[in-house]
Amino acid sequence: MTLPTAALHDAAERFGTPLYVYDAAELDAALARVRSAFGPARVYYAMKANPNLTLLRRLNAAGVGFECVSPGEIARAEEVGASGPQILVNGPAKSAAEYATGARLGATFIVDREEEVALLPPASRALVRVNPALEVSTHDHLATGAAGSKFGVTLQQAPRVLEALRAAGHTALGLHVHIGSAIRDAHDFTAAFGRLTELREQTGPLAVLDAGGGWGLDADLHGIAREARAAASAFGAELWVEPGRYLVARAGTLLTRVVGTKRTGRNFCLVDAGMTELLRPMLYGAEHPVTPLWDGDEVGIWDIAGPACESGDLLARDISMPQPTRGALVAIGEAGAYGAAMSSNYLTRSRPAEALYEPGTGDGQDWTLIRRRETPQDVWAAEI
Ligand SMILES: Cc1ncc(COP(=O)(O)O)c(C=O)c1O
Repeated sequence: MTLPTAALHDAAERFGTPLYVYDAAELDAALARVRSAFGPARVYYAMKANPNLTLLRRLNAAGVGFECVSPGEIARAEEVGASGPQILVNGPAKSAAEYATGARLGATFIVDREEEVALLPPASRALVRVNPALEVSTHDHLATGAAGSKFGVTLQQAPRVLEALRAAGHTALGLHVHIGSAIRDAHDFTAAFGRLTELREQTGPLAVLDAGGGWGLDADLHGIAREARAAASAFGAELWVEPGRYLVARAGTLLTRVVGTKRTGRNFCLVDAGMTELLRPMLYGAEHPVTPLWDGDEVGIWDIAGPACESGDLLARDISMPQPTRGALVAIGEAGAYGAAMSSNYLTRSRPAEALYEPGTGDGQDWTLIRRRETPQDVWAAEI
């Protein structure tokens, strides 16, 4: 966690909890790390990681494009002023609306199956997503390049799909590969890029190689970048990348307050956030760093549990920390990616506010509210 403790207390007082907070300096630093590793590669932010408009505007101003996988994400890209080569339209089952809006904006499409060649708007710019059929070092639900995964065309199909695109009057820019998310071992990328470069003889030179995202926060970024650049140069191609999590995860913290404690077979620290605010622990068994913002001598082992009537509603297990006191704050780290983005209104819970920490801005305050907390009326607003 990169934010000062006093600032976290201040944010919780001002905006209430649960609350997502983001450190602007860490957002900028993450982008700088990507640029330093990947050099001139074009960066497309996979906005599924965190689609908040303020964050998108900031990335857009820094020259970053967007990878979009739904009509709503394309609308967000347009809303922040992105167009043409700044937008990638991706997804395994794109709707007619996505083709139409993508075409209107001059976006590049990522073709996920052969059938799509006939569905693309006339004279589209397109990449072909290849499934390299690899097992990778991440949770099964996060792996997207395994032989049994629903994404991309096979290595055998890829040259034919490029040809079909050209024959149909589209611009076949090149190949795309994304093997999954939160991948720990850089060798997985080496293997994936290696499988793609085996296609070089059949495809000939290409304009673009899109190496996707999926980099674990502790993965060897420079190693991944070196392999991606080598693969691109094997095709004589420009390198594009699509990080989501890497750009925003560390900048974000979920702030939650202790509601109480309970001892059954285990010690539970009950807090006011849970699976509706951070689904990753329940969905992927993800482990997020937990920082209790209080002191004490009586240290125990605690599970951090949310308020939902679901046994799986746990944010963390086996956390060593001082005896919790009611009203104290817990900071759940690395929550900037797939935290707010995957939050839900299950149980008619209002989604939390989001705030950006950038000292010296935001009407003289260090914090700027970038999404207000929902009300129950917001949650049922579309119901009739
Ligand atoms: C095609 C594609 N690109 C990029 C990403 C971003 O992945 P990550 O957030 O792990 O970097 C995803 C995530 O699912 C994806 O599906």
